[in-house]
Amino acid sequence: MDFSSTMRPADMERITTPEQADAFIVEAVDAVRAQVGDGKVLLALSGGVDSSVVAALLIRAIGKRLVCVHVNHGLMRKGESEQVVEVFRDGLDANLVHVDASDRFLRLLEGVAEPEAKRKVIGNEFVAVFAEEAARLEGVGFLAQGTIYPDILESAGGVKAHHNVGGLPEDMDFELVEPVRLLYKDEVRVVGRRLGLPASMVDRQPFPGPGLGVRCLGAITRDRLEALREADAIVREEVEAAGEDIWQYFCVVPDMRATGVRDGARVFDWPVIIRCVNTVDAMTAEVPELGWSLMKRMTARILAEVPGVCRVAYDLTPKPVGTIEWE
Ligand code: XMP
Repeated sequence: MDFSSTMRPADMERITTPEQADAFIVEAVDAVRAQVGDGKVLLALSGGVDSSVVAALLIRAIGKRLVCVHVNHGLMRKGESEQVVEVFRDGLDANLVHVDASDRFLRLLEGVAEPEAKRKVIGNEFVAVFAEEAARLEGVGFLAQGTIYPDILESAGGVKAHHNVGGLPEDMDFELVEPVRLLYKDEVRVVGRRLGLPASMVDRQPFPGPGLGVRCLGAITRDRLEALREADAIVREEVEAAGEDIWQYFCVVPDMRATGVRDGARVFDWPVIIRCVNTVDAMTAEVPELGWSLMKRMTARILAEVPGVCRVAYDLTPKPVGTIEWE
């Protein structure tokens, strides 16, 4: 395989088997070593499939000369940042810088209600935190990215500018290392499994870069964000326990309250909206018909376990007209 190419050769076999993945890993490790020599590489490790697989691959190729920077923006799902530390630092002995920047992000987001403005705050702050961490390191000449083939195709087709970490500062003078740039998502997952990453990381559902920030509608508050995180964890747990194969399943908490009654007293608390969709390319999406018992279990648990919530609704809107996310 030609790792310097930006186009996937027409005769390149699809990686579907463990043997094909192993062969790819051997070639990719050699290519990374040839490119990097005895240099150091920096990687923004979100914990998503693509950056995780690139991290595992580079650890195999160059060990601790890969510096992984994981920025927790405070908008991760429950347990997600902890899993990054567990898998990479504890499991793979990675050179991992874990930055808990939650406070910084949440303070900047205070009172920001408009969806695009929220995205901008999160994206800009991500770049700022990452650049600060990069500036602390010495002798890093390379930047690894989890670019995959659909990113290249979409950029070339002008569909969207692809960026994996919210865009990096232009004055960063790094040479790019993109070992999975010719692979499709399903191939990246096969490779990730062979590199020993856990299924919960390799098979995880897509999650937007701005994280729970676009699901805690309007101006984010810490208590409502916490309610969202807890409800989201319950939905994930129950959908997975039911063995449902759903593309994306999550919650949204609007910035409004609803009347309820709890222990004989009136409450005025948040509603949680459960959003599940199936799609092939995220351009259109259908809402799956979940079993009633799963619906009832999720509802009962959210109402019993999540403080501040007094109502649960299921979003029946296909895309179009609704988008998958609410913001
Ligand atoms: P929409 O809401 O546009 O979402 O129907 C389509 C897919 O894209 C994801 N999404 C995002 N991913 N940054 C991302 O990295 C974002 O700002 C963002 N907004 C939406 C969404 O989760 C769905 O899979």
